[in-house]
Amino acid sequence: MKILVPVDGSDNAFRAIDLACRLAGEGNEMLLLNVVGRGELPEELKRYARVENIEGPPAWQYEQLIASELIGRAVERLRGRGFENIDTFVRTGDPAKTIIAVARETGTELIVMGSRGLGALKGLAFGSVSQKVSHSAPCQVVTVS
Ligand SMILES: Nc1ncnc2c1ncn2[C@@H]1O[C@H](COP(=O)(O)OP(=O)(O)OP(=O)(O)O)[C@@H](O)[C@H]1O
Ligand SMILES: [Mg+2]
Repeated sequence: MKILVPVDGSDNAFRAIDLACRLAGEGNEMLLLNVVGRGELPEELKRYARVENIEGPPAWQYEQLIASELIGRAVERLRGRGFENIDTFVRTGDPAKTIIAVARETGTELIVMGSRGLGALKGLAFGSVSQKVSHSAPCQVVTVS
């Protein structure tokens, strides 16, 4: 069975990894996914950089870098719990749609994810990504808080 854990760096997402490990039996494949945005800088900052002749790596490269660091830590966590059958994905796009698309592509049977993520809004039980995925996923979804 394939278990997909979408991670955004939040504590809940790391707890989702731990629960996935406890739910998984031997021979299960763990899939880790981080969805990055388009990495666009704010227009004002782009203009400033142009005027001041500042050249840096494009913002999307930072995002990719952080994403691979994050995925690396998630992999370590899985390995630390004895899992070796791990596949990783860093994709660009809308988080919920991309999580659902990867679940479909891979034939994922279970998604384990945080109920909330890095979004700061307190008081709501579910974030927008976990809500959308729970509604439209092609498989069972377990949310962790
Ligand atoms: N960009 C992402 N890539 C991979 N997984 C994600 C991403 N964003 C969220 N998730 C997954 O969804 C879970 C719930 O996060 P969600 O974004 O719904 O909550 P939030 O950040 O608190 O709210 P919101 O984003 O609506 O402000 C996370 O714990 C994580 O498992
Ligand atoms: Mg979020």
